[in-house]
Amino acid sequence: MATTERKEELKEILLRLNCGEEVEKVREDARELLKNIDASELSRAEQELIEEGLKEDELKELCQAHIEATQEELKKLQLELEPGHPLDTLIKEHDKILEMLDELEQIKEEIKKLSKYDEDSPVFDRLRELAQHIIETEKHHDREEETIFPRLREEGVSGPANIMEMEHEDMWPRKERLARLAEEVEEMDFDEFKKKLSEDIEYLGLHLRDHIFKENNILYPTAQKLIAEDAWEDIEKRSDEIGYCCFTPEK
Ligand SMILES: [Fe+2]
Ligand SMILES: [Fe+2]
Repeated sequence: MATTERKEELKEILLRLNCGEEVEKVREDARELLKNIDASELSRAEQELIEEGLKEDELKELCQAHIEATQEELKKLQLELEPGHPLDTLIKEHDKILEMLDELEQIKEEIKKLSKYDEDSPVFDRLRELAQHIIETEKHHDREEETIFPRLREEGVSGPANIMEMEHEDMWPRKERLARLAEEVEEMDFDEFKKKLSEDIEYLGLHLRDHIFKENNILYPTAQKLIAEDAWEDIEKRSDEIGYCCFTPEK
């Protein structure tokens, strides 16, 4: 199918979503359509839709269907990357972040069972530690924003990069609040603490996972396809300058 036809079909699917047609049915059709489109081609089509006036949050609906259709992309991508390649490092950091989110959720459940702050319980130390690691994810985002996103924009794929950057900004206040909560639990009303802790961990669990999913399956495969082979050395150098997270696996 020619790209223009595909684009028209993508648009039609979006309209159906916006008219409130049952999401599952529309997603199914989207998945079918997206099956044979590779990530860079789809990213370009999405970019054209934005340029034609489609709002970026409408695009999010399409991204959702896109995600479901391209889960396999990550496995392929990882097989093609040398260890130490900037994208390989970013994907490995994603794995670490996902583990941290799982552990934070367990901690949230453990704390829920307590009726007051207990300074001898190791759970609060671990919470402080993990909250600091979550703050460290900013370095991961900085590397994406300063080395990968500008090159995608140069290649004409600004839409997905803009959405990812917007999400980084949206998540920051929650990360900060989580770290503050972990530090201030002793002085807080414990029920109030538990309520806010649950809110922040649930928020980050949802949004950070979703964000990572989109990058792994859409943005990074697009970057690997569109960014020239010889640019990656510079990207790695610049990434080294920006620095890594305390949880980044050894290169
Ligand atoms: Fe990101
Ligand atoms: Fe990321």
